[in-house]
Amino acid sequence: MSASGPVVVVGGGQAACTVAAALREGGCRAPVTLVAGEGVLPYQRPPLSKDFLGGSGGGFEDVVLRTRSFYDEQGIDVIAGDPAVAVDRAGRGVVLGSGRRLPYERLVLALGARPRTLDVPGAGLDGVLTLRTVADAREVRRRLEPCRRLVVVGAGFIGLEVAAAAAKRGVPAMVVETQPRAMARALSETSAAHLVAEHRAHDTQFRFGRRVTGFLGDLRGRVRGVALDDGVVLPADLVVVGVGVRPHTALAEDAGLVTDDGIVVDAYLRTSDPAISAVGDCARHPSAPDGGTERLESVRPESVRLESVRLESVQNATDTARAVAADICGNPVPYRAVPRFWTTQHTASVQIAGLTAGYEETVVTGALAAGRFSVLCFGGGRLLGVESVNRPADHMAARRLLATDAGLTAREASAEGFDLMARSRTAAMV
Ligand code: APR
Repeated sequence: MSASGPVVVVGGGQAACTVAAALREGGCRAPVTLVAGEGVLPYQRPPLSKDFLGGSGGGFEDVVLRTRSFYDEQGIDVIAGDPAVAVDRAGRGVVLGSGRRLPYERLVLALGARPRTLDVPGAGLDGVLTLRTVADAREVRRRLEPCRRLVVVGAGFIGLEVAAAAAKRGVPAMVVETQPRAMARALSETSAAHLVAEHRAHDTQFRFGRRVTGFLGDLRGRVRGVALDDGVVLPADLVVVGVGVRPHTALAEDAGLVTDDGIVVDAYLRTSDPAISAVGDCARHPSAPDGGTERLESVRPESVRLESVRLESVQNATDTARAVAADICGNPVPYRAVPRFWTTQHTASVQIAGLTAGYEETVVTGALAAGRFSVLCFGGGRLLGVESVNRPADHMAARRLLATDAGLTAREASAEGFDLMARSRTAAMV
């Protein structure tokens, strides 16, 4: 049955916006309130570390997801700038910073994540920044203008996208990364090496396998250097730290919901309180790697890490949001989707389907030297995921293959004449 009492969505990102819109698309007529904690309407984050930073301008209107008139027309009440501070589960109400109370029949937590910061001396110096919000991106962009020495900490999505954007603005970065290579969390060695070569061709330099031990400042408290664990001090007048994110879970924890590096949800994205759902970056949901939904249908905190994932991507935000909206509209379906990620750095547009972490074997198709290729990642005898660099058709084929669990092996993929697209078409027909 569709909810008839009030639905409250807390969070101001893509997941929150999608829940609200999908509720109306799904025919929900209940009062819907979106509590956008950042004080602005929900906006897209991916451009912030790309065009918003590297381009010539870019304002809020370029990233905002829906204008105020959309929410007005849809009868969605948006409260921006009065964040939720507590959830009263017994009384079914959300308490805002102002003291205002919003009753709910169903509550959706789309709380997102915040950047990790480094716990080293000088981390609070002026000019040591992180990038997550539109305000952060404006600040990085403003400071890039007079910047002469940029140090980026972390060679992940944010670090490398910032390095590419800065190079475009004539400020090549020095990138410091603790791992021996770039993007170790999300990309195969082959794809990461290709990206690093592109960055190097644009004068970006790398210090792999190095840890930041502290930031050094001048008498005015402005950053002047980055100290590494080998004793080297890199000169810097701007530092962007991109060392991963932490999910916002405090609101859920304080309310007594089960959390474990994310708000733990079941196959229907419901938390340990079925009146409360969680979506997007803050939610840890069952990973369902090999089919079968029965075992995924309840929250089991003792084993969640093994059988669950917390994903940070637009696809995950919007797909989990739509699934929760369907649930609230009275059409619950266990959540299942092929995870997708993307990044754009210099000329490389990288699309990732599946989760390639922990791969044991790769097969490369296409033209590696020309920068148009796909890396098929296998592990445990099956296809885990496919990274496509400037090969959008391969990416679509990979999504079909992964959705159908087509039984593709590394041996088959490396055989003479293997055609990913043809193989995905036959898989889709089975
Ligand atoms: N010093 C240097 N590098 C570090 C340190 C450290 N102390 N700690 C972690 N790193 C490195 C990691 O090894 C990793 O390569 O920082 C990188 C972080 O990369 P990601 O995990 O991709 O995180 P980030 O780049 O911050 O992006 C966070 O934002 O773009 C979105 O959704 C995207 O998931 C991504 C999120």
